[in-house]
Amino acid sequence: MLDVLVREDLTFADEVFRQAYKVKLAYVGSKVYLRGIIEFSNFCQKNCFYCGIRRSNDKVNRFCMTDEEIIQTALIADQSGYGSIVLQAGEKSDEAFIAFVERIVRSIKKRTNNRLGITLSLGEQGQDTFRRWFDAGAHRYLLRIETSNKELYCRLHPDDHNYDVRLNCLDWLRRAGYQVGTGVMIGLPGQTCEDLVNDILFYEKHDIDMIGMGPYITHKNTPLAAASGSNTKKNFKLALKMIALTRLRLKDVNIAATTALQSLNPQGREEGLKVGANIIMPNITPVKYRDDYELYEGKPCLDENADISKTCLEKRIQFIGEEIGYNNWGDSPRFFKRNKG
Ligand code: 5AD
Ligand code: SF4
Repeated sequence: MLDVLVREDLTFADEVFRQAYKVKLAYVGSKVYLRGIIEFSNFCQKNCFYCGIRRSNDKVNRFCMTDEEIIQTALIADQSGYGSIVLQAGEKSDEAFIAFVERIVRSIKKRTNNRLGITLSLGEQGQDTFRRWFDAGAHRYLLRIETSNKELYCRLHPDDHNYDVRLNCLDWLRRAGYQVGTGVMIGLPGQTCEDLVNDILFYEKHDIDMIGMGPYITHKNTPLAAASGSNTKKNFKLALKMIALTRLRLKDVNIAATTALQSLNPQGREEGLKVGANIIMPNITPVKYRDDYELYEGKPCLDENADISKTCLEKRIQFIGEEIGYNNWGDSPRFFKRNKG
């Protein structure tokens, strides 16, 4: 794997991409499953050095959507055939927030007759909270490890963030019954190709069901951007290689072609699908809130809309010879295999 990441020879990379696409077709097929992502709040108790909505960025206009706004957005996603949504927000762990999420998840499940699948992406939480949200009806959870290199993790986060707590959370999520997703940022300052190989081995060791990885992109109001820049072209290529290698190594997992890929290249997500990804997460957050959820600069605010018929997503996917798996949760085949024993 290391030579694929290190070598800059394009013919060699193309061959790896072709192999990865074959493995994708054999293990998960050519259907692309959608998760409409609703970024419902940008309040965050954390202060990650790379992130635009970190607690200390006082230039951010903080917002939190209301119950009804979130539910209405979810209902449009359901009616337009998404099959599932992701509820994402900055991290908060007070009881009011926990109860708010629990209530929303329950309502969405009830009002869609259990049709809509719900993935949560709400940071580190206690074991009880993970259980409460699972009991309310969420069945997948994304919690990125950001990097599997503990020392690098410590350099990217202030002292009150703890790598071991994050590991424990992944374990608790699995025990609560979720399909577990994780991922890393690619091209972080100080990150080596060996680190990236270890990230893939980390996914394997922890038997992860879903992977969401994207290039690191600077945000000007963050300490990490002030300390060093990022080479976007290089990070884009590296991110594609990471998707391909992850597909080749883990075979039957779900892999997302992330928004960050698309920020670096308008065709970024399609490129991701062509090298092994099988999931797309269109942003369906109401447009008026999108500018305030800027994790990194240049985050696209494209033609996406909760109503798929009003976007050109279907055409873009057909153009690369794939089709959307409408009205389907598109769960990770790996999860079912493990649970069958
Ligand atoms: N560049 C790329 N991805 C970022 N994230 C946060 N900040 C950045 C950035 N500057 C990602 C992290 C986090 C997810 C919600 O967004 O991986 O887990
Ligand atoms: Fe908060 Fe997540 Fe950003 Fe860290 S990466 S500051 S936890 S929103």
